[in-house]
Amino acid sequence: MPENDAPLIETKNLQKSYFNEELETPVLFNIDLTIKKNEFVAIMGPSGSGKSTLMHILGFLDHHTGGEYLFQGQLAHEMDEDTLSRIRATRVSFVFQAFNLLPRASVEQNVMLPLIYHPTIPESERAERVAKAIETVGLTHRKNNLSNQLSGGEKQRTAIARALVTEPDIIFADEPTGNLDSVSGIQVMSALQELNEAGHTIILVTHEKSTAEHAERIIELFDGRITKDTTEFKTRKAKEEDSLQK
Ligand SMILES: Nc1ncnc2c1ncn2[C@@H]1O[C@H](COP(=O)(O)OP(=O)(O)OP(=O)(O)O)[C@@H](O)[C@H]1O
Ligand SMILES: [Mg+2]
Repeated sequence: MPENDAPLIETKNLQKSYFNEELETPVLFNIDLTIKKNEFVAIMGPSGSGKSTLMHILGFLDHHTGGEYLFQGQLAHEMDEDTLSRIRATRVSFVFQAFNLLPRASVEQNVMLPLIYHPTIPESERAERVAKAIETVGLTHRKNNLSNQLSGGEKQRTAIARALVTEPDIIFADEPTGNLDSVSGIQVMSALQELNEAGHTIILVTHEKSTAEHAERIIELFDGRITKDTTEFKTRKAKEEDSLQK
């Protein structure tokens, strides 16, 4: 897909209903949203407000049922299966609350996985990319451990390494600190923050205000609608620069 000036993500009156048998359950209404490259966005809201549903649609794991979703100016509902699978393999990655690692595979093997199905990254580059991703999350000393021999925080950092190894445009993280103690949670958030500073767009779902404050923009959902969209938080880098000037 060619680079163009269109925003990375744009939705216009986006709607989502789930259909079970004859029953329609509408869960997202009138979502108008623009997310630009390199933003760090947190999506907050009560349980059931539609946060994961919205994230899955934006990350091409699910389809919207009304309105428009444009990814770099291209309408999602007009994309063919080839385009969709290419976007899934190369442009977006997910980090989930439950880690979703292969338990009897090593850190290295887990991080390698997205490269095995990658359409453009050559096999000769795999090992170096894996080593770099593992180093980024500070787990080089654990690279040969099986993932079921890791602490919760180490598991999540492995999941982040797996998400970043393809150098995707967007990393989606759904409650990435939900299963972690506060120290591991802070490590995971600083790993995401570093990726944002390195140019990745981060879209994070969280219940916790303290976690959301790592983002520069907070979108609040309530009953499937955006009720607030604030860009008042500065990145850690900007905060550090501010405090140096004082
Ligand atoms: N497959 C499905 N079929 C029908 N309804 C669904 C389905 N998946 C989710 N829902 C409903 O859609 C609504 C939004 O769910 P979603 O998982 O997006 O909420 P959430 O904000 O992520 O909640 P949580 O904070 O608990 O993870 C909920 O009312 C949920 O029951
Ligand atoms: Mg959810």
